[in-house]
Amino acid sequence: MINFAKNLKMYVPLVRMEYQDIAPIMGRLWSPLAAVTTSFHGKANAQIAVAITAASIVPDRPRVLVQIYKGNYTHQLIRVSRAFGLNFLSLDQLHFIRDFGLVSGINHEKLDGVEYSPGETGVPILAGCMGYLECRVINAMDGGDMTCFLAEVVAGSANSDVAPVTWREARNLIPKEWNEAWNEKIGGEIEISRRRMSDIDYTAWAPPAARSGAQGD
Ligand SMILES: Cc1cc2nc3c(=O)[nH]c(=O)nc-3n(C[C@H](O)[C@H](O)[C@H](O)COP(=O)(O)O)c2cc1C
Repeated sequence: MINFAKNLKMYVPLVRMEYQDIAPIMGRLWSPLAAVTTSFHGKANAQIAVAITAASIVPDRPRVLVQIYKGNYTHQLIRVSRAFGLNFLSLDQLHFIRDFGLVSGINHEKLDGVEYSPGETGVPILAGCMGYLECRVINAMDGGDMTCFLAEVVAGSANSDVAPVTWREARNLIPKEWNEAWNEKIGGEIEISRRRMSDIDYTAWAPPAARSGAQGD
């Protein structure tokens, strides 16, 4: 029998095109900008994400799929709390790109001075967003450099009069220095991802109740 896990770990893709050939498609697959909020044992945090998709066709069982990079503090907090909020930014919240997306909360309090209230799961729900989804993780897949979290939406609301902002739009509206800071940050992260992305753990994820003595990891 073929050992897919073993083979996949050794798999090196045969790339038959230049990235530029597919960039117009790949660039359009990102979601609107969201602040991913988390909270665990009194520590609250937020990061920016654009790797979010709807993951259910059943209206009364809404789900999302969110990709979070392993080096992010948010990743640690989601793994232990198994909950997060998706706060879709409005045009007057572009400063959150700098405050949440260009620095890590590992050693500072990103939500100090930010107006928010706790949701049903305890995650911060930011004031003034286009809308929010509050989510509980039901499964996770290791992607090497990041984890794909599948989550059920347990609460949320949307202000349909406010359009969600995409990174494509925001890049033209934010100061030049933030764009430069992002280019520098993403350059370093691409190198980290390149090294990590084949290092996938194929062990199935299990919620705490299904594991003996699990304390979160
Ligand atoms: C426009 C933009 C999009 C981003 N998209 C993602 C994403 O989809 N997933 C992710 O894990 N990080 C994404 N990031 C990076 C995180 O927001 C960033 O690394 C942040 O500093 C992590 O914060 P933390 O360490 O406090 O969790 C994005 C950042 C920006 C500015």
